[in-house]
Amino acid sequence: MQVAASTVDTFQALKGKIESKAARVGIVGLGYVGLPLAVEFAKAGFHVTGIDLQQSRVDRLMKGESYVQDVPSAEVAQLVKSGKFDATTDFSIVRELDTINICVPTPLRKTKDPDMSYIVSAADEIAKFFHPGLLVILESTTYPGTTDELLLTTFEKHGLKVGEDFFLCFSPERVDPGNPIYQTLNTPKVVGGITPACTEMGKLFFSQALQKVVPVSNTRVAEMVKLLENTFRMINIGLVNEMAIMCDGMGINVWEVIDAAATKPFGFMPFYPGPGLGGHCIPIDPFYLTWKAREHGINTRFIELAGEINADMPKYVLDRLANVIDQCKGIGLSNAKVLVVGVAYKKDVDDMRESPALVIIELLRARGAAVDYYDPYVPAIPKTRAHPDLAGMRSISIDAQNVASYDAVLIVTDHSKVDWQLLVDAAQLVVDTRNVTARVTGAKDKIFFA
Ligand SMILES: NC(=O)c1ccc[n+]([C@@H]2O[C@H](COP(=O)([O-])OP(=O)(O)OC[C@H]3O[C@@H](n4cnc5c(N)ncnc54)[C@H](O)[C@@H]3O)[C@@H](O)[C@H]2O)c1
Repeated sequence: MQVAASTVDTFQALKGKIESKAARVGIVGLGYVGLPLAVEFAKAGFHVTGIDLQQSRVDRLMKGESYVQDVPSAEVAQLVKSGKFDATTDFSIVRELDTINICVPTPLRKTKDPDMSYIVSAADEIAKFFHPGLLVILESTTYPGTTDELLLTTFEKHGLKVGEDFFLCFSPERVDPGNPIYQTLNTPKVVGGITPACTEMGKLFFSQALQKVVPVSNTRVAEMVKLLENTFRMINIGLVNEMAIMCDGMGINVWEVIDAAATKPFGFMPFYPGPGLGGHCIPIDPFYLTWKAREHGINTRFIELAGEINADMPKYVLDRLANVIDQCKGIGLSNAKVLVVGVAYKKDVDDMRESPALVIIELLRARGAAVDYYDPYVPAIPKTRAHPDLAGMRSISIDAQNVASYDAVLIVTDHSKVDWQLLVDAAQLVVDTRNVTARVTGAKDKIFFA
C-alpha cells in the first residue's frame, strides 16, 4: 500500500476527476436508497458501478430490470446499454473506483441494539482494496460516532491519513419511497466530513448530480441530523396517536381537529394518527439514539414514551374493531370474518418492513377471527423473521359480493389505487384507521374511525 506523494496532489486530482465527471463512482448496497442514488449519478454522466451481495439483484439490473418501485426499469436498461451503469458482487472493483457510497441496511437486533454487521462487513471488503485518493461516504442511518469509530479506524489501518490521502464523510439518506414530489434528485443532501477537506470533497461530489447540498461541520452532526428528523416524526406521531385515543373517548373527530389546526399559518405542523409505525426508519432510528445516549448516561424519555404509545396502536385498533363488531353485529371477534385492506406500511408502496398490518393480522388470528387481506401492491406475504406464520398469505381480489361477505373491513393502508367507494358501498361495517373514507359519498353510518 503506497501513500500518495503529495496531499495537495491527491485532493486536486480527485477534485479534477469529480468536476470533469471522469471519477468512477461506486455504490455499495443497491436497495431503496442505493439504487436511486446510483441512477442519479449515472444520469449526471458518471460511470457508476453498483456492488451488492445478492447475485439475483445484480443479474436483474444487468438485464435492465429494476426491483425498486421508484426506479423505472426503462431507465436502468438505458443506463446499462449506454455503459453508464453496471453492477457486480465483486468488491475487487474498488481498486478502480474513486468514490464509494455505502447504503447497506442498519436494522436493530431483537434487543433493540443497533446491528452494525452490514456496515462492518462492507467496510472490511472495501478495506481489502482500499487505495489513496478514495472518497468514501456512509449513507446508512446510524448512531452518532459510527463514521469515525467504525469506518475511520478500519481505513486508517493502511497508514493513509484522512483528509489528506483519502476522504471520509457521512451523508444521511432522506429518500421517501413513493413520494411523487421529492426524490433523490431534489431532496437537499446534508454532508459532513471527518475533516474540512473531506466535507469539501463530499459537497463537490453531491453537487455534480443533486440539486442542493447542505454541508455541516463534521460526521457526527450529519449523523445526528437524520436522527433528529426521524425522532421528531416519531414523537409527533406518538402525540397525535394519543390525541386520537383521547378524541375517540370524548366523541370528537380527530381528523377534523387536525385539519382545522393545520390552517394556522405558523407554529403548527400536521401529523396524522394511524394503526402504528412502519417502515425501515421511523420505528427503528430513534432507538439508535437511545442506545448511544445510554452509553453517555443520558435517558431519552420522550423517545421511550412515544415508542410505547406507537407500539400499542395495533392493539388499540384491534380493541376498537372488536367493540364495533360487538356493538353492530352482536358477535365476538372469534366468530367474525375480517378483511384487512392494505398490508404495506404506507400508501402506494409495496414495502412491508415493520408494517403494523402484520401485527394486526396476527392479533386477529390470535383472537380467533377469520382474516383475509387485500393489497394491490402485495400479492403475497413473504416469509419474515418477525412474522413467519403469515408467509404465503395471498391478497384476495375484491368485488362487491366478495366484500359483502366479511363482517367488517379494516382499513390499514390508504393506497391511492384502491376503489374506496366500492369497498364502502359493499362492506357491512368499516373501521378506518386512515380517514380515507372521508373521500367517499353516502354510506357514512357504517363507518367507524380508529
Ligand atoms: N428505505 C428507506 O426509505 C430509507 C430512507 C432513509 C434511509 N434509509 C437507510 O438507508 C440504509 C439502506 O436502506 P435500504 O432501504 O436501501 O435497504 P435495502 O434492504 O433496500 O437495501 C440494502 C442492500 O444492501 C445490500 N447489502 C447488504 N449488505 C451488503 C454488503 N455488505 N455489501 C454489499 N451490499 C450489501 C443488500 O443485498 C440490499 O440489496 C439503511 O441504513 C436505512 O435505514 C432507508
